[in-house]
Amino acid sequence: MSQPLRLGIAGLGTVGIGVVKIIRRQAALLEARTGRRIELVAVSARDASKDRGISLKDYAWETDPVALAKRDDIDVFVELMGGHEGAAKEATEAALATGKDVVTANKALLAIHGQALAEQAEAAGRIIRFEAAVAGGIPVIKSLTEGLAGNEITRVMGVMNGTCNYILTQMEATGQGYNALFEECGRLGYLEADPNLDVGGIDAGHKLTLLSSIAFGTKPAFDKVRLEGIQRISLEDIHHAADMGFRIKLLGVAQRSARGLEQRMSPCLVPANSPLGQLEGGTNMVVIEGDAVEQVVLRGPGAGEGPTASAVMGDVCDLARGLKIPTFGQPANTLEDVVPAQTGLPAPYYLRMSLLDKPGALAKVAAVLGEAGISIDRMRQYGHEDATAPVLIVTHKTTRDALDQALTAMAETAVVDGEPVALRIETV
Ligand code: NAP
Ligand code: HSE
Repeated sequence: MSQPLRLGIAGLGTVGIGVVKIIRRQAALLEARTGRRIELVAVSARDASKDRGISLKDYAWETDPVALAKRDDIDVFVELMGGHEGAAKEATEAALATGKDVVTANKALLAIHGQALAEQAEAAGRIIRFEAAVAGGIPVIKSLTEGLAGNEITRVMGVMNGTCNYILTQMEATGQGYNALFEECGRLGYLEADPNLDVGGIDAGHKLTLLSSIAFGTKPAFDKVRLEGIQRISLEDIHHAADMGFRIKLLGVAQRSARGLEQRMSPCLVPANSPLGQLEGGTNMVVIEGDAVEQVVLRGPGAGEGPTASAVMGDVCDLARGLKIPTFGQPANTLEDVVPAQTGLPAPYYLRMSLLDKPGALAKVAAVLGEAGISIDRMRQYGHEDATAPVLIVTHKTTRDALDQALTAMAETAVVDGEPVALRIETV
């Protein structure tokens, strides 16, 4: 009879409690599949008196997660606290230093300290697994490191923040404002402890960093991701984009070309009838393109108790089965430094601006675009609201540099009221 796999869980919030529930509910199934009993030995959180909806009296309690990580009666330290410094980092380091494997859902920790932690783990002969850190319940890390290991990956892209996708799609579907929907995400268990990480694109940027590292064999480099959040997207943008046949998504793209590695997380337009355009609510989608497989599209719940706990348990089962894969799919000392692309590949752009009701105003805007070498594909002007009229322009492919040049020149024409909104259009 194989020895049980003994776990210590630090963090008993949305994800941690979800994991405890699966360990209890599926004990027989987990043992049948892995050939070992999965035994929860000890847990840790800040407040021992908090009602967490389930009894935890069968498990030893540690107030200090570092003490939990160092216990000699656990084999695996499961880190579900969050945060890239403090308790999560210290406890993970302590677990590796005392011979434990680590399972974590913490994308911030790995996006920022992943290289050092991977090196520490490999030097100690330990494993770090982090399926739950990217795209919640979708087994994307496993797909990339195992199922697609025979491919040279050319592009990885995706919608990987449930909060942002929920807010953007519900704004369009219900006409509700940003604040009400943001509160609903909190009730659904989607939000990070610091929700600015969600709406600022940072959380999704952390996830893109991890996918990019595995896909391109580079050291995780969050500081090389170009980031923009959804805070500037208005109901007006959502409706106008829909009118032109598009949906707005917080989209991450990592792509290697002769220009270097492009990694960006920003609101983009996608065709409304494309798989990405049809993605609703907290659902995530990751598109992986490889030289042999061509394209794989993975879709599933990106956040919340059950989906995230499901991913954590997938990692626990792999450890119980003895699967040993380096953190980012290849030994940490073989990962290369990121050479960031200075400019992105050309793409069509969507522009929305308020044009003053003056003779020749539209001609001036068209001239500015023409001078920057930008060709207009489609244009729509709506009726005047007081002294201005909303104008939407879809350009042919251009570079962000050319667009920035045109936007600067546009500000000097005195025919555009306020700052135009410019969003990249991404095709899949
Ligand atoms: P959460 O609900 O806020 O729970 C965090 C837990 O960690 C709480 O139980 C908290 O204790 C405990 N904790 C925090 N700091 C601690 C410390 N210094 N010492 C001991 N315990 C501490 O967070 P969550 O949503 O479960 O997320 C956990 C991790 O999973 C994060 O890395 C997050 O990014 C990641 N993740 C979450 C989701 C999701 O859908 N929620 C999805 C994917 C990944 P108290 O309860 O006593 O305050
Ligand atoms: N806050 C994250 C989201 C949780 O909304 O997608 C899942 O990582």
